[in-house]
Amino acid sequence: MKKKIMIVLGSPRKKGNSAKLAELVAKGAKEGGAKVETFYLNGMNIKPCQACMKCQKENARGCAIRDDMQSLYPKLKEADGVVIASPVYWFNLSAQTKTFIDRCFAVGVEERNIFKGKPMALLMSYGDMDPFGSGAVNAIRSFQDMCRYLGAEIAGMLYGSAMEAGDIEKNRGLMKEAHQLGLALAGSQS
Ligand SMILES: Cc1cc2nc3c(=O)[nH]c(=O)nc-3n(C[C@H](O)[C@H](O)[C@H](O)COP(=O)(O)O)c2cc1C
Repeated sequence: MKKKIMIVLGSPRKKGNSAKLAELVAKGAKEGGAKVETFYLNGMNIKPCQACMKCQKENARGCAIRDDMQSLYPKLKEADGVVIASPVYWFNLSAQTKTFIDRCFAVGVEERNIFKGKPMALLMSYGDMDPFGSGAVNAIRSFQDMCRYLGAEIAGMLYGSAMEAGDIEKNRGLMKEAHQLGLALAGSQS
């Protein structure tokens, strides 16, 4: 059975650094025999969570907000692996990424938790020199906490410094790691 890998892009830059990392993961996953679907969050109508708490009620049927997130919930459920790619904005994940993550609250509820045991990966780029000065550490910590809360498996966390779109390609080691992560998500090793 072909594995299904879902990638969400959290940068407004379609050809930016985090998108480049995601492209390499997708390439590796496809080479490994997986089916890959990529979603550009910035082009979707995804509202912030309204804290109505309807999703938390017994027998709840997901999120009450009728927007483009509704098309992502079944994709998340079906996926054998989920990859989140984001730039670091103001020392954390981009707003697009955070809004998407908040809305995952609706499908992470106890017995209806669609993330339990699911491999998840984080891809990030930042302009500063290192993960500390850039604030990437905060995003990494958020991702780790999210996976712990959801009972998801951390399949990988890849990140590197790059300011202008495309600069990340100079980091050959990181490019290779992204490709290998894709292969691993597909279930084959490099
Ligand atoms: C609004 C905004 C906020 C940013 N905040 C940070 C930051 O806090 N730390 C950092 O190291 N870089 C920051 N950057 C730089 C980006 O993280 C960097 O350019 C990154 O590679 C962009 O990824 P992308 O090409 O995938 O969009 C910021 C850029 C923008 C536009």
